[in-house]
Amino acid sequence: MTDQHKLRLQSVRKAFGDNVVLDGIDLDVDDGEVITLIGASGSGKSTLLRCANLLEPIDDGAIILDGVDISEPGLDADGIRRRIGMIFQSFNLFPHMSVVDNVAIGPRKVLDVPKALARDRAREMLVRLGLEDRIDAYPDQLSGGQQQRVAIARSLAMGPEVMLLDEITSALDPELVGEVLAVVRSLKDEGMTMLFATHEMGFARDISDRVCFLHAGQILEEGPPEQVFGAPVNERTQRFLQRVTDAGRL
Ligand SMILES: Nc1ncnc2c1ncn2[C@@H]1O[C@H](COP(=O)(O)OP(=O)(O)OP(=O)(O)O)[C@@H](O)[C@H]1O
Ligand SMILES: [Mg+2]
Repeated sequence: MTDQHKLRLQSVRKAFGDNVVLDGIDLDVDDGEVITLIGASGSGKSTLLRCANLLEPIDDGAIILDGVDISEPGLDADGIRRRIGMIFQSFNLFPHMSVVDNVAIGPRKVLDVPKALARDRAREMLVRLGLEDRIDAYPDQLSGGQQQRVAIARSLAMGPEVMLLDEITSALDPELVGEVLAVVRSLKDEGMTMLFATHEMGFARDISDRVCFLHAGQILEEGPPEQVFGAPVNERTQRFLQRVTDAGRL
């Protein structure tokens, strides 16, 4: 039987010392689906993404990619991580490399793509993300929004099947947020499977197939954005959204 779920988290538990940060997370992400994670600071969004990408070992439960348990110890974590792209708030570009080389370096070094081909593909990717003017620039010559788009191009250049996005617009000036979110939208339109932790509630409402509200390491509420934002059932979700609304962020 084929498993239509691209990525599944099953009863995932993660603690740092006594601090239980993920407390039995069950989450299925279908192929091409966009799921956003919302919730207060410290609720476990980043940890969930880091565990999904094997950057953090889990204490219990399983992470299943295309039907295969990737959380089993002893599997090739680097090989698996290549199939799951991750973008962070900070761009972490190599400052001494041009934009095109920042994007080409992964395929060259990790996938053994020849230099000229890797650079050609990197250029194509950068054009796709609207960065054709910045291909030979260096990261410190770019705006934050442009740097984040280069970071996205770098991740896409590895051909990921799933993308995990962690607050990717939080470090940006407000006027630069839109250009990065437009890239996320185009990825969705192309069918990319994404798991997206964000404080951009309006965008979450707009782009998500499903929204998960995290509180203290548990998914307390999950559903289509109209339901979670429009008629939240859980009292904690209601309170969280009220605070967001009061702060003018929804
Ligand atoms: N490496 C770590 N060592 C110890 N504790 C950690 C570590 N990483 C995260 N934590 C703790 O795990 C909890 C959840 O953190 P996490 O970063 O996942 O929250 P978050 O929902 O992403 O918050 P934010 O909205 O601020 O990004 C917090 O209590 C945090 O202090
Ligand atoms: Mg976080």
